[in-house]
Amino acid sequence: MRIFVTKNYQELSYKAADIVEDYLKNSSAVLGLATGSTPMGLYRELISRYENNGLSFQNVQTINLDEYIGLDRNHLQSYHTFMRENFFSHIDIPSHQTHIPNGLAEPLDVECSRYEKLINEIGPPDVQVLGIGENGHIGFNEPGSKFSSETHVIQLASSTRKANARFFDSVDQVPTHAITMGIKSILKSRQILLLASGTKKAAAIKRLLDGGIDEKFPASALLQHSDVVLIADREAWSEVSSSSETIFNVEYL
Ligand code: PGA
Repeated sequence: MRIFVTKNYQELSYKAADIVEDYLKNSSAVLGLATGSTPMGLYRELISRYENNGLSFQNVQTINLDEYIGLDRNHLQSYHTFMRENFFSHIDIPSHQTHIPNGLAEPLDVECSRYEKLINEIGPPDVQVLGIGENGHIGFNEPGSKFSSETHVIQLASSTRKANARFFDSVDQVPTHAITMGIKSILKSRQILLLASGTKKAAAIKRLLDGGIDEKFPASALLQHSDVVLIADREAWSEVSSSSETIFNVEYL
């Protein structure tokens, strides 16, 4: 794992954009994308480079990690809406080249198989952008998820529903289930770009680097991948032990 520690969230977003932009030099790049607060600065920066520096997404394909079950794609809090409003509608990517699981599909197991097939056919992503949950989830793979899992339906942990309630009127409105790429699906990506910002993520980053590989902490599966780049800002990095700092290849920006 290569690690960059940045002064703040803005610098984290620039560094992540530099890495993604490198892949876009190959015009037919496949990007694995994530929702949530953490990648929003990355998306803002990529939009700015599209508007000001001629960065183009015309031949890019994107594959998103997950979607809530039961929300229409036009629901304000669906991940379809998130991606459209925060990224896709601001760049030149044709919408048929953007892929997100369909949380209203029936039956859902057929949708899961379709999505995994799509990952194998279009992907795997050259780079997969990932956030990390406070409980160590990646995508919606909650603690206890099998590392051998491909795209599947998952029941959200109550801590995840509470954390995401900030986007809904109340926690009761947060869907109980989601479709998510499995851990095995995520590990198919050629490179993984894990982003962590803020003190709320400090314990998870410490656990990731100090705690060893364990299905109780899904992000620890990333330790089995040969090309992971972690970008953490100082706050998210603040609890990592000095012994981990020496084991891993850490660069302070
Ligand atoms: P966040 O979510 O970026 O909104 O913190 C990350 C996650 O829960 O995976």
